[in-house]
Amino acid sequence: MDLDLDRFCRELPKIELHAHLNGSLSRSTMLQLQRYYADAGISDETNAFFDEFQIGAGDTRNLSDCFQVFNIAHALTSTPETLKLATTLTLQEFQEDGCCYIELRSTPRDTSHMTKRQYIDTIVQAMQKSSQSLSIISLLIVSINRSNSISEAEEIADLAIEYHKKFPNVVVGLELSGNPGCGKFENFVKIFSKTRTAGLKVTLHCGEISNPEEILQMIQFKPDRIGHGTCIHPKFGGTDDVWEALCKSGIPVEVCLTSNVNTKSAPDYSSHHFKYLYDANIPVILCTDDKGVFATSLSQEYRICLDTFLLDKVKIASLALNAIKYIFAEDKRKLLSDKVQNFIDKNCV
Ligand code: IMP
Ligand code: ZN
Repeated sequence: MDLDLDRFCRELPKIELHAHLNGSLSRSTMLQLQRYYADAGISDETNAFFDEFQIGAGDTRNLSDCFQVFNIAHALTSTPETLKLATTLTLQEFQEDGCCYIELRSTPRDTSHMTKRQYIDTIVQAMQKSSQSLSIISLLIVSINRSNSISEAEEIADLAIEYHKKFPNVVVGLELSGNPGCGKFENFVKIFSKTRTAGLKVTLHCGEISNPEEILQMIQFKPDRIGHGTCIHPKFGGTDDVWEALCKSGIPVEVCLTSNVNTKSAPDYSSHHFKYLYDANIPVILCTDDKGVFATSLSQEYRICLDTFLLDKVKIASLALNAIKYIFAEDKRKLLSDKVQNFIDKNCV
């Protein structure tokens, strides 16, 4: 293992644009949350399932099975106090891994201890508080789970608009995620059109499974970014039409290497669709998706990408630099570009 490259990937100021809060909880964070429940006398039954939370290489579970693991994290973020702690600790971990800007995403839930409104409010407060002690810039993308009802999605979208108006520098986007085998994008189009008109940016999990018709609908909707884009190239279950539409669109793709490999959406790193996107000059942004579930980190994703696709330091650092063009906080672009460029000038001679 080349330690120098490990350190380079860790110290490179990185941009995280696709991280689900409840999928990002580390084991240490989960233990702290569990301790909180114990101290508060609230029963939680997650202990027995801890070992099922992580999905490593060679795990027999597939993408569809993976959605069940989030229930384990959800059991630990059902109160405002633990949700706040989960957000703060997760931001801290991203910062320690050299991430200087993060758009964290999460699906508001009603629990026995809080409403969806309190859920969003709690994360916003945690982000604002963290900005006083942490250097990482954090923003929130509100998630809609495509497995849930349209009325639930409407309720979440209205809250996202309300909080975007109140906190335009924190709540910046709306995204569609959840089990790609459930629900249809066409049923959510009206909702995303409404939030876009209200000023929220849009990112969609797109093409996680082969569904060329829906992929085309998504690309024609012109989201600001898409997540994964696994089954768009004809080699991976897409069609020439959808691939061409993506190439022409210029829509950037949030790529999550380990997530795709561990859920068997990609057979292995070397045959991951990253190469096809990169070679076609489609903007790619390396992201973690669920760093807790997939036991990874953003710097590890950069290192794997560097090794697998034989990129040099300048090329791998350029991925971080280019990602800045696609962040939702437009006013932060100059500051971040200067930071990454400085690092490149100092470390890529
Ligand atoms: P949360 O939104 O903070 O609760 O994070 C967990 C949620 O993110 C899950 O319940 C899913 O809806 C979503 N999610 C996490 N990983 C993926 C993925 O790979 N594909 C689609 N949705 C995902
Ligand atoms: Zn995701």
